[in-house]
Parts: sequence; C-alpha cells; structure tokens
Amino acid sequence: MQLQRNIANIVLVGFMGTGKTSVGHELASMLNMNFIDTDDIIEQDSSRSISDIFTNMGEEHFRNLESKAVEKVSKLSQYIISTGGGVVIRDQNIQNLKSTGILFHLDAAPEVIFQRTKHETQRPLLKVDDPMGKIREMLENRAPFYAKADYRIDTSQLSVKEVAEKIVEFYKMNQIPLNPPLAKGGNRKEISENCLK
Ligand code: S3P
Repeated sequence: MQLQRNIANIVLVGFMGTGKTSVGHELASMLNMNFIDTDDIIEQDSSRSISDIFTNMGEEHFRNLESKAVEKVSKLSQYIISTGGGVVIRDQNIQNLKSTGILFHLDAAPEVIFQRTKHETQRPLLKVDDPMGKIREMLENRAPFYAKADYRIDTSQLSVKEVAEKIVEFYKMNQIPLNPPLAKGGNRKEISENCLK
C-alpha cells in the first residue's frame, strides 16, 4: 500500500506506556515542530483531569471529548500529535487523524508496558486488581485498531531518543518534506508500507 495523501502532521498512536508523549516531545524538539497531546486538550477544555472525567462522567463521555479533541488537532499543520491510547477505537478518529497526518503506532510487549506504568496513578483503565492481565486483554482487543496506523515501531528495547531518531531517519530516507507543509498533490516520493523494526 502506498500513502496517497497529504502529510502535514506526525501522529503517534499506541497503547498506554509506549512512550507517545515522551517521543512526541523529543521529535518536536528534533524537528523544530510544535507538540500537542489530545489528553492535554481534553483536560484543558473540560478543566478536569482524565481520572476525574472517567470517575464522574464515565468512559463514553471521555470518548466523546476525545473525538472532539481529535477533530481539533486534525485541522492543524506542522504538529507532532500525541494521542490517548484508546483513540483508535473510533474509526472516525483514525479517519480524521489520517486526513492530515501520518500515523505511527508505538508498540511494546505487555511486560514492558506493565513495568513502565505500574507506579503511575493517572491511568484509570489500569487501576484494577490485575493490571498485567488487563494490559494483555486490552492489547489483544485493540490490535486490529492499532493495525490501521501507517507504520509500527516496537519500542520495547528502545529509548525515547532512539524511537524519535527512527522516525526522523524514516523521513530522511523517504525524502518527505515536513516544513513547509505539502501542497495538495505535491511532488514527493511515496512511502511503501512496512514495519520500521
Ligand atoms: C487511555 C489512555 C490514556 C488516556 C485515558 C484512556 C486508553 O492515554 O487517554 O486514560 O483508553 O488507553 P495514554 O495512552 O497517554 O496513557
């Protein structure tokens, strides 16, 4: 499959603990681009924390706010966009993000995700008796949704910097101009779909 669309943004999708936010910040500084995170938008717009929204308003309400945040970021240009782990569940979100961005799926082994998230308190979906079991189950359920991203990077053995460097390297290899944004139908080499690892 070849990418046949404009790329104005780099979008990071993937499960909790795969490094989307940290890699996003690193990429933004390496490429001198802006950074935005859909969870931050949700918290700012609602003046509530993600945990508070889940506890008091429920997951469905959170997903609606998330879809609105996705609509907003999909209108941007020259941004590194980090998304919440469940953003891929709604197909409309993927369509919106793909309308202006190239989607990188940051993946990791369940054990690695567990190690990276076990001391955190800000992820309501992992506040359960058996977080490892929950991670495995959610990863399995969400696999077909993450597979809709354009590229996948296994971050299990990589540092934040190494993941960001892989993405930058990928851009250089494929001669994709990131700045200024591509004009519609712009002249660029198409990227063939593959796994970066
Ligand atoms: C979620 C992931 C979280 C946050 C919310 C729900 C999910 O984002 O959006 O807690 O459904 O996987 P991070 O992936 O940035 O932790």
